[in-house]
Amino acid sequence: MAKTLPNQLTATIFFIISSLLFLVAAVESQSFSRMLSKKSLGLKREKLSHLHFYFHDIVGGKNPTAIIVAQATTTNTSATGFGMVVMIDDPLTVGPEASSKLVGRAQGIYASASQFETGLLMVLNYVFMGGKYNGSTLSILGRNPVFSTVREMPIVGGSGIFRFARGYAQARTHSLDIKTGDAVVEYNVFVLHY
Ligand SMILES: *[C@@H]1O[C@H](CO)[C@@H](O)[C@H](O)[C@H]1NC(C)=O
Ligand SMILES: *[C@@H]1O[C@H](CO)[C@@H](O)[C@H](O)[C@H]1NC(C)=O
Repeated sequence: MAKTLPNQLTATIFFIISSLLFLVAAVESQSFSRMLSKKSLGLKREKLSHLHFYFHDIVGGKNPTAIIVAQATTTNTSATGFGMVVMIDDPLTVGPEASSKLVGRAQGIYASASQFETGLLMVLNYVFMGGKYNGSTLSILGRNPVFSTVREMPIVGGSGIFRFARGYAQARTHSLDIKTGDAVVEYNVFVLHY
């Protein structure tokens, strides 16, 4: 009896301490994160979608969709316009004509981020309208060397129908008005989503 008591005591203390630790861990993990099955969010099968549209960057005229919001004192003397920051709300259409059916808008910022070759930092969301895509977005964060034939930019996420999105967008200049700076750019977007 006298010999077993310390052992029992040790076991009891050990049991109490580990129970407490387990409880603390459980409470902590419950309040912050938990594991879920994909099914519980209605996620079934990952799909690959191909989107094709034209992006209208209207710089000139009475109703520009792209406006310079900031630039450096040295931007005007830089061959690449380094430091210029442009806010856009550009229409996305099915065909290349401005009158073509609107499918969404590209909203965000592009900025001249390259000193030695014209290269834009693109930080923007495509917001789609109509049908099952209405209100869903795709987020783009990438580099756009505008004078290259094909530019590729990562799709880093999405919302709505595009939750958990990842993929890439390929841009090709369809037309460029040298006088106004207005451009129509063809986009092919390949995106994995649920
Ligand atoms: C840069 O050029 C634009 C247009 O030519 C002009 O409006 C602007 O004031 C100039 N900015 C600076 C900082 O010189
Ligand atoms: C798209 O969503 C907007 C805002 O939620 C709504 O006003 C509009 O009616 C919707 N359009 C279609 C075609 O579903």
